[in-house]
Amino acid sequence: MELNIENRRYIGNKSKLLKFIDETITKENINFETFGDVFAGTGVVAEYFLNKGKEIYVNDLLFSNFVIYKALLSNEKYEKSKITKIIDGYNEIDSEKLQDNYFSDNFSGNYYHYKDAKKIGFVREDIEKKYINREINDREYNILISCLLYSMDRISNTVGHYESFLNKEPEYKNLQISNLNIKSYNSNSNIYNEDANMLVKKLKVDVMYVDPPYNARQYANFYHLLENVAQWKKPKVYNKAKKMERKNIMSEYCKANAKAVFADLIENIDAKYIIVSYNNTYEAKSTSSVNAITYQDMMQILETKGKVSLYETDYKFFNSGKTNLDKHKERLFVCKVEV
Ligand SMILES: C[S@@+](CC[C@H](N)C(=O)[O-])C[C@H]1O[C@@H](n2cnc3c(N)ncnc32)[C@H](O)[C@@H]1O
Repeated sequence: MELNIENRRYIGNKSKLLKFIDETITKENINFETFGDVFAGTGVVAEYFLNKGKEIYVNDLLFSNFVIYKALLSNEKYEKSKITKIIDGYNEIDSEKLQDNYFSDNFSGNYYHYKDAKKIGFVREDIEKKYINREINDREYNILISCLLYSMDRISNTVGHYESFLNKEPEYKNLQISNLNIKSYNSNSNIYNEDANMLVKKLKVDVMYVDPPYNARQYANFYHLLENVAQWKKPKVYNKAKKMERKNIMSEYCKANAKAVFADLIENIDAKYIIVSYNNTYEAKSTSSVNAITYQDMMQILETKGKVSLYETDYKFFNSGKTNLDKHKERLFVCKVEV
């Protein structure tokens, strides 16, 4: 089975909103060749427009997302048969025979069963060795890590993120690594792993799509374990949830000064159109789900750049159970830049 870019559990992903984004762009009569997605998460929005022949600029603060963009969205050469052979080899491993390793020492009995954890640690170490020994090139390295990230995520003992694990013993799932469906594209992709506020100062695009975190819930907390495996620096992990130190990947958009950070971002964007995704969870009852920037703030900030139109659609989304889903709306602010 080959997995597609959207076959991932990722909070706030816009897989189901691609049509809505595309239709909004059509309604606004926007002609464009270059598309920036600087809070790209899964990368599905950027991929959608890359597939339509646009040049993309895709970025996220998390290194694990960057690795996935390098695997799925770049044009660098790779040998498909080599990847398949390596993955087939991994899938034949008898985890019973593997030794304990960094991953099983830290993540068995919580997020994974001991045997699956040993296999994840072994596979990740083997990818590193193959890269250091130059048996695989950069693209192949990123593809193999991404195949592991997608596959391990599907069997974790969680609700879909790593803020915590389920209150039950992880079952043995006999991890199988899946291949990813790697397409080739006719247009260029530019891939970054930077703070969006710094990056936009260097970019000039026709359309800049902006989809920042909506509330106090840090993506670094949700996906620390995937980040740990992608980076493979084998850091010390802390407390019950086994999170590594992650100061440099904590987002300012989830903190009290989110409004000022957003205003700084918008000010520095050089684009003909700025399209901002936002949802109305500020009516949420749990404090961590309350939006850091209100609808009024957003309007006011965008209007400093040009004329703003608002589009809305109904959408179901992730919540911790306390939020009224009925009133939930996904919004797109479209700003035609004048200054
Ligand atoms: C709402 S999610 C984006 C979802 C994405 N549109 C998708 O469809 O998958 C917000 C993303 O912004 C990233 N992020 C948070 N702060 C950032 C920053 N300062 N610079 C770049 N990315 C950031 C998070 O890691 C997360 O992936």
